[in-house]
Amino acid sequence: MATVDPQNDVLHVVGGKPLGGSIHVRGAKNFVSKAMVAALLAPGVSVLKNVPEIRDVQVVSDLLRLHGVKVNVQPKEGVVTIDASTVELADVADVDTLSGSSRIPILFSGPLLYRMGEAFIPALGGCRIGSRPIDFHLDTLRKLGAKVDKEHEAGIHITAPNGLHGAKIHLPYPSVGATEQTLLAAVLAEGKTELSGAATEPEIMDLVAVLQKMGAQISVDVDRTIRIEGVKKLKGYTHTALPDRIEAASWASAALATHGDIYVEGAQQPDMMTFLNVFRKIGGEFDIRDEGIRFWHPGGDLHPVAIETDVHPGFMTDWQQPLVVALTQAKGLSIVHETVYENRFGFTRPLVQMGATIQLYRECLGSLPCRFQQRNFEHSAVIFGPTPLQGQIIDVPDLRGGFSHLIAALTATGPSEVRGISLIDRGYEDFREKLVALGANID
Ligand code: EPZ
Repeated sequence: MATVDPQNDVLHVVGGKPLGGSIHVRGAKNFVSKAMVAALLAPGVSVLKNVPEIRDVQVVSDLLRLHGVKVNVQPKEGVVTIDASTVELADVADVDTLSGSSRIPILFSGPLLYRMGEAFIPALGGCRIGSRPIDFHLDTLRKLGAKVDKEHEAGIHITAPNGLHGAKIHLPYPSVGATEQTLLAAVLAEGKTELSGAATEPEIMDLVAVLQKMGAQISVDVDRTIRIEGVKKLKGYTHTALPDRIEAASWASAALATHGDIYVEGAQQPDMMTFLNVFRKIGGEFDIRDEGIRFWHPGGDLHPVAIETDVHPGFMTDWQQPLVVALTQAKGLSIVHETVYENRFGFTRPLVQMGATIQLYRECLGSLPCRFQQRNFEHSAVIFGPTPLQGQIIDVPDLRGGFSHLIAALTATGPSEVRGISLIDRGYEDFREKLVALGANID
């Protein structure tokens, strides 16, 4: 993993120019990494297509190689070939250094228990948008028969002396990661597993599709219950990843904020319908084509909206940060009630310094009280607009907040210096090249 020299981990942006043109969005970051881990379950070769060239893919490739798995990445073709015929335990320290910036390692638990009988999971990284606990993950593994020893602060050691067996598991919250944990650990368990309160995001359903191709027996019922019947063994898969609806929505928000017009090749309507409804309510126009979606600002005022993030099919938590920048340009008061993460508005502070009027509240400013009500989290935001933004020096706080800062710099008049820009490489493939293709004034 190349470490980035902070000196040049900066992007100079001169904003105020509408973004216009066409870009191509490839596979979903929050799916491809999990599909790569799923390949560990089969002593064979798997091929994943439409894979974007992002840091998360590199991290998981390196982690797989650390476990003796052969991984061939063809970045331009977007194809990753994984040969998991042989797997070996990795050196604890190596896993720790490698996985610093990711939460994916916890999903290696189930596959490694099957292949090696044990797993070491380092302390997890990931964006600082909340406490990011893994209690649901560990509960699931214990219920399936694993022994979890929280070792020194470096991480946890997991074993399964008698193998894994099916269990009845209920998630207190439809956690995406915990649902993936259960899927990856239960497909080869002895007997049946019933997971209620599961997440059903499109990325989860694509993981279920991959597991079904491998030979797994999985059903998803109407009441968010996933039933898994353990099978004896699985085989490699070939799969084309679904497009990244978070990246597509990020570019759509950039079109709105900069009065631009962007054709996002690869974007698909079904997974973005909730976003499209809000995009239209704000006053954005979109045109759905077979191969992508065109998003543009038709001129005139943008309208304020009240948004409440939620699990699928609600408005995605990852969609709100880029859209908040567009809402600073809407005429009136908008409200965003973030109900998935307790601390996901940190990115608004630099926006306020640039001239936005955004007030954060501890109250649940939405139709439903959420898990963070009466607790000390500023998880609701009121945005007043339109407010002109001035270029600033900005430090990127996390992946999605960072992209929002990029959009703000492109919307602002005057120069901005966006520092820590390499964090955005984790989830936005070739974003510098795409910005240039859209006519942005950057260097
Ligand atoms: C995944 O994170 C995504 N990351 C996130 O995208 C996304 O925002 C999130 O799902 C929700 O859709 C990846 O897929 C790599 P969760 P995940 O478990 O799985 C609580 C991005 O920018 N929780 O659904 O970690 C947790 O605190 C990232 O691409 C527990 O309490 O999310 C949170 O409040 C950001 N205990 C809620 O569930 C647990 O054991 C949702 O978390 C697990 C989660």
